[in-house]
Amino acid sequence: MSNVTVIRNARLVLTDEIVEGWVALSDGVIIEVGRGAAPTGSYDAGGDLLLPGLIELHTDHLESHLRPRPKVHWPMRLAILAYDMQLAASGITTVFDSVRVGNDADYTPERSEARNIVDEIAALHGRGLLRIDHRTHLRCEICADDVLEGAREVMDAHRVDLISLMDHTPGARQFANLDAWRTYYGGKSGLPVSELDRLMTHKHDLFARNYARHRKALVDLAHTNSVAIASHDDSTPEHVRESIADNVRVAEFPTSEESARLSHDSSISVLMGAPNVVRGGSHSGNVAAEALARAGVLDILSSDYVPAALLAGAFELARRIEGYGLPRAVRSVTVNPARACGLTDRGEIAPGQAADLLRVRVVDDTPLVREVYRNGQRII
Ligand SMILES: [Fe+2]
Repeated sequence: MSNVTVIRNARLVLTDEIVEGWVALSDGVIIEVGRGAAPTGSYDAGGDLLLPGLIELHTDHLESHLRPRPKVHWPMRLAILAYDMQLAASGITTVFDSVRVGNDADYTPERSEARNIVDEIAALHGRGLLRIDHRTHLRCEICADDVLEGAREVMDAHRVDLISLMDHTPGARQFANLDAWRTYYGGKSGLPVSELDRLMTHKHDLFARNYARHRKALVDLAHTNSVAIASHDDSTPEHVRESIADNVRVAEFPTSEESARLSHDSSISVLMGAPNVVRGGSHSGNVAAEALARAGVLDILSSDYVPAALLAGAFELARRIEGYGLPRAVRSVTVNPARACGLTDRGEIAPGQAADLLRVRVVDDTPLVREVYRNGQRII
């Protein structure tokens, strides 16, 4: 039994309940979960909560490490190492790194940027230099002229675990309100109003030329390679019907309760931003994540642009919504994202699951990360 570690005196957040007890780990896997007093020689968790490690499907936080200021390019290796550390310290043990292919007005990747990022992450992972498990989420801007080329370049070299299909054409989906589009892209790009209007016309031309054929090609690429698909910013029943036809698994950021409910009822997992929960609403003026949770149609939270929002958001749902409960909120950041993307080996505190664990203490309603374990090894 020398290679067995036991963590005792913990409040275990299981899938449906919280119990006082202990967890035994061996060779990176949970081998036993017990209630009450633990075997001797165990490690004392001090009565703190023990959660499964968090699983993050959609974070664009790497971009702010790569470009800490407009036009400033930080060395890629340093950016990835700092990003990995920040995610680990936020309690995230599995991340789907979101890398974009296809130009959009707020982000013009350099040629082969997505491929270079995934290359570097794989190289660091191969040398054992990353703390958490990294997967690839390829974010595809459907209407961009170069999206298929960019997607194929990454997929020819690496395993991709999630493909999202994004359409940010002004007047639709996330930006049904044209003023919201002008505010967002004007703020990010710094373009004057006349240029924004010219850009809007260009975006409409791209939609007409590319949307249908690129979407079909990307869906075919995903299915051929057995990659889960996420839709993005579905707003209307027509959007959801399109997602159902394309066998989409995750609906990222639906913008209306109607589309979220239709997705949820069609076994498409509804993903919303944890910052939206913490802040109390959407920065684009669309439906609030908390409202979807209250309506019973929220399945997954994502940290989006603030890694620490993932844990905070889950605890806020449990705190604010009467009867919601912490186990259900925690499922939205652990087992639900794992299963939606086909990961069955993690996401729960249960025998046979990966020993990815997170020790949390709540102080003044704020959950504090005290320790993080990945495959049974302490990483924070
Ligand atoms: Fe979007």
